[in-house]
Amino acid sequence: MTVVINMRDGVDEEKIRIAARFILRGELVAFPTETVYGLGADALNEKAVRKIFEAKKRPADNPLIIHIARLDDLERIAREVPPEARLLAERFWPGPLTLVLPKGEDVPDVTTGGLDTVAVRMPAHPIALSLIRASTPIAAPSANVSGKPSPTLAEHVVDDFYGRIACIIDGGETEIGVESTVLDLSSERPTLLRPGGLPLEEIEKVVGGVEVHPAVEGKPVDVARSPGMKYRHYSPSAQVVVVEGAREKVRRKIGELVEEYRSKGLRVGVMATETHDADEFFHLGKTEREVARNLFKALRELDKRGVDVIIAEGVEERGLGLAVMNRLKKAAGYRIVRA
Ligand code: TXA
Ligand code: MG
Repeated sequence: MTVVINMRDGVDEEKIRIAARFILRGELVAFPTETVYGLGADALNEKAVRKIFEAKKRPADNPLIIHIARLDDLERIAREVPPEARLLAERFWPGPLTLVLPKGEDVPDVTTGGLDTVAVRMPAHPIALSLIRASTPIAAPSANVSGKPSPTLAEHVVDDFYGRIACIIDGGETEIGVESTVLDLSSERPTLLRPGGLPLEEIEKVVGGVEVHPAVEGKPVDVARSPGMKYRHYSPSAQVVVVEGAREKVRRKIGELVEEYRSKGLRVGVMATETHDADEFFHLGKTEREVARNLFKALRELDKRGVDVIIAEGVEERGLGLAVMNRLKKAAGYRIVRA
């Protein structure tokens, strides 16, 4: 049985205690963060963390992020906290930035997929913070079955996990809509492992130049450093095609592709920032923030409407756009059309 707790009107400490008890008993609780919903378990309880991997069907070598609510907990999770980590944490926590640091002794190997580093972040969502404070540091990947688009609504979590986890906290739609930015500080130079809710440009203002891991641009790489990179991601059942290029050309190209696929008898969905004629259409919004917020919802929604192909309008790869394009290209299996 799954207890669904409605907290759309804000934090309710009484209800938080119910969810916290599940965590402390080693059960799984899905909860909202400012990025996407997380599937949480006591980060220091090996048996509990194993349940996350089972429920998500996640490969055991793909490590989890530990969510904390106090800076003091950082010392417990990480063996060493370099000065840049402190600077970034002071500047951007709570917020959508995950830091990879040398792993502390208390953290079980299952949590880090056997790595000697650990990923940690302090989320900026009142429900997430209250839940952690009422329980313990929480390991939480995005609350989707492995390979599917990340959840930005409790409904998405219900679709993937109802009946298979102890509790889901419904906190309404998540604000940012793409996952946190993952920055590796365990090696020589700060390295971006995953673009996300905190733009790279913001991080560079604080620590100077950041190396960008080649996988971020979809290049083939040695995956040992972030095993998550090698797995299929964000994929709806429909085939996704991304169209990139100058705005006007992209608009025309999308129109042509719709006709081309339809003439083959396929049902075509379009997700874009302006209206298109297609079997199904999802408006992504106008601003960069709206597009990021709507991205995963659009992929899940068009899939539900039963299209065979999803044509997605590309965005500029800066600011939040870097994270959006990274997710879109992965969803498309790098099927990219240049207009
Ligand atoms: O916004 C987010 O980060 C969400 C919310 C729930 O906090 N969580 C999330 O977790 O996206 P997940 O598990 O879906 O993605 C974690 C990413 C993966 O790409 C994983 O490989 C990487 O972080 N990661 C975790 N620990 C790592 C480590 N020790 N070294 C390198 N990469 C790591
Ligand atoms: Mg994920």
